[in-house]
Amino acid sequence: MSWEDQMRWHEHPAAPVDGTVLCRFDELSGDDGREVVIGAGDAPLRLLVVRRGDQAFAYVNCCPHHYIPLAEEGETFLTYDRSWMICSAHGAVFRYEDGFCEDGPCMGKSLQAVPVEQVDGVVRIKRP
Ligand code: FES
Repeated sequence: MSWEDQMRWHEHPAAPVDGTVLCRFDELSGDDGREVVIGAGDAPLRLLVVRRGDQAFAYVNCCPHHYIPLAEEGETFLTYDRSWMICSAHGAVFRYEDGFCEDGPCMGKSLQAVPVEQVDGVVRIKRP
């Protein structure tokens, strides 16, 4: 499965069902984020979960420039000052709130958003 295919997260073989827990909200320290990998094998679904204030957001870890991950496992995908998500390949920066690329080679495109909600202190998938 290509990274471009992963952009359509709901069609991914490992697409999480409604209510799947991604992490505890308090595991995301202020304006921080983490990668959550769902599924196994060659093409798991890799999601980025970020926090801005009291809200959490999730995106497919796939840059809309060359359809590669913003960062590899264990690497940060946030700018030093935690103001943006950033792609380590060519420096595109994305807003936490909607994944919109404000600057870089894919300016005007967006990360694929994955709808989430917070229930009892956990961030979980909220499928439409
Ligand atoms: S692949 Fe992300 S900015 Fe080029």
